[in-house]
Formats: sequence, C-alpha cells, structure tokens
Amino acid sequence: MSSLNYAALLDYLSDVDSGRMRTLLDQADQVRRQTIGNEVYLRGLIEYSNHCCRDCFYCGLRRGNRELTRYQMNQEEIVEYARQAYQAGFHSLALQSGEMVDKKGVDNLVEIIGRIKSITGNDGTPGLGITLSVGELSYADYERLFAAGAHRYLLRIETSNPELFARLHPADQSLQRRIECLEALKAIGYQVGTGVMVGLPGQTVEDLVGDLRFFLEQDIDMLGLGPFISHPQTPLYHQAANPEIDPLRHTLIVMALARILMPDINMVASTALQSLHTNGLTWGLKAGANIVMPVITPAEYRENYSIYSGKQYKSWQQIQSEVETAGYQVGLWKWGDSLHWYKRRITRPILEADQYHREDKL
Ligand code: 5AD
Repeated sequence: MSSLNYAALLDYLSDVDSGRMRTLLDQADQVRRQTIGNEVYLRGLIEYSNHCCRDCFYCGLRRGNRELTRYQMNQEEIVEYARQAYQAGFHSLALQSGEMVDKKGVDNLVEIIGRIKSITGNDGTPGLGITLSVGELSYADYERLFAAGAHRYLLRIETSNPELFARLHPADQSLQRRIECLEALKAIGYQVGTGVMVGLPGQTVEDLVGDLRFFLEQDIDMLGLGPFISHPQTPLYHQAANPEIDPLRHTLIVMALARILMPDINMVASTALQSLHTNGLTWGLKAGANIVMPVITPAEYRENYSIYSGKQYKSWQQIQSEVETAGYQVGLWKWGDSLHWYKRRITRPILEADQYHREDKL
C-alpha cells in the first residue's frame, strides 16, 4: 500500500476517530485474509524463570525489584510441561525468561531444547517448534541455541527512538545493541521477531511512525507489540504518559498499519493487549494478529512473572472459542511459520522440517 507514506501514517495515528479506526481495521483484516488466510496459530508460552540481570525502568522483573519472589523451573519440569503441551495439541512452544544472570543459563537452555526436541520429534513429525525470548546474548550463544533446535527468536526493541530508549533503560543498555542482536539472529537463520510498547511515558505519535518504519527497514518476520501497562514496583510508575496516545487504540492502529505494510509477517495479539481489555484478543485479531501465545506456565509461578500489573490468563479452550467467534480458525498440526521468512530465505537450502510445513504456505 504505497499510499501509506510518512504523512499518512502520522495522520492515522494523530486522529483516532472510531469510524476511521474501524475502517482501518477492516482494511488490515482484508489484507490478512488475502495474504495469510484466516488461520491463527498458538504458541504455548512457558515463562521458565523470572531472574533477570537487567534493570529496565518499565519492567516488574527488573533486578532492582526486591519485592518479587524469584523462581527458576528445573529442566524436568520444563520438559514435562513441553511434553504435555505437545500432547494437548500445541505444535509450537515459546520459552521466555528474564535475561540470563550467568553463562550457565545458555548451557541449561541448550540442554532443555535438546530434550524437548528428542521427546517430541520421534513420531515422524518435526516435533514442537521452539521460539525463544530470553533477551540479548552473544552471537555464539544464539548460534548454539539455533543448533540445539530453536528456530524463532523474539527480541523487542521497545522503541525505535534511541533517546526514548535511553530514558527507559540504565546506561549499560542501548538500542544499537538490540539492533545488532536482531541482525545476528537473522544471519544465523532464525525467524526474527521484534516489537515495541505503546503508550510509554515520553513516547510520541512520531515515535510510533518511526517504529513502523524500523520494522519495515529491518525486514522482520514476526511482530509483537502491546500497550505499556504501568507496574508499581518500577521507576516509571509515577511518570505520566502522553495524553495523545491511548495505549489500547494506538496499539490496535499500529497493528493494523503493520499488517497493511507487512502483509506476510506473523503478528501476535499480545497478552498485554488481552490484559488491558476483555475484548483485547478479538480486537487484536481484527487488527491483523494471527498468533496467540496462551500462557502455560505452571500456576504456582505465574503471579511471579509479573512484567506488568493485572496480567490476564486465558485457557487454550477459551482462546480457541474467542478466535472462532471472531471469525478465524485455529491452525492445528502446523508450526505456522512466518510466510515472510519463507519468502526471505527461498534461495537458501530447505531443511527437512521446513519441507514438512512449507506445503501450507507456498
Ligand atoms: N507493560 C507492558 N509490556 C511490558 N514489557 C515489559 N514491561 C512491560 C510493561 N510494564 C514487555 C517488553 C519486553 C517484554 C518481555 O515485555 O516489551 O520486551
């Protein structure tokens, strides 16, 4: 959609009239149905550790939050949950944690991935697809995790504005480093996802346009964006957000614009969006999302994976029913990889597992 130049994007984000928003969401839905169809893929999300070496000013898992009870699931538990998820019908799993405190974290994760692959890939199928979201690591570590069997990676940039990024993080973190990580992940062969928060203190509508441009320039395969939801045990708690940005509406508008600009990517209806409003999932789907990540972290740990306040959990059944009521279909027995990624690497050798699934997409 070439008419979506900078001025048009800014205009959509500056005037969030309901009728206009509905038309935009309809357009996004049309693009989605034409390009990737009406299927929605589920990724069972296991938040396996809330330890974190970072101190991001917006996140409840930050190192400086001494009120949080920290946990780390052991290998047996994680592998057992993965096995149960596979048996229940999940074909992809997302493993998420705070950023690793020491090098042993990567060794541990490599072993976990290997074990999950070995118990779920021995029935003539490629087993569980594995997405990782464990933050900034070295090139060598990303390579090891890829070799172990992970094939998608999510690393949000939080904002494409380097000055805003600097105001949201301690001095030892930078947007540049995140970008280097995304480039490394892409070079290694991962399907690469990124994203931002919408409604951050100090964020402007221009920043959101910048975010969309960033996603396009980076040629991303997957997108996860959600509203910023303030957490009381973080420094940002008392900072006022920009009244021009409505976290819910603007998240949906950015999602719809993203779907129109990048028709073949995978885009998630985030848990934060679902937590902000009871209809968040339905609206997220209508704005172009084709991925949902039901939280399957054991109940005893869930409340301690408190990135933000008021996180809502929906069961697989509830999600399936909402997906169908909204007019979409849960895609079963498929990894549901990003069509964009297939196209991006079409000239590269195709692995056996891809061959198995690519028939759906090409
Ligand atoms: N509100 C919404 N999302 C948040 N995240 C972290 N803190 C918050 C918050 N307060 C998101 C960030 C991070 C991801 C794991 O969670 O985008 O990358």
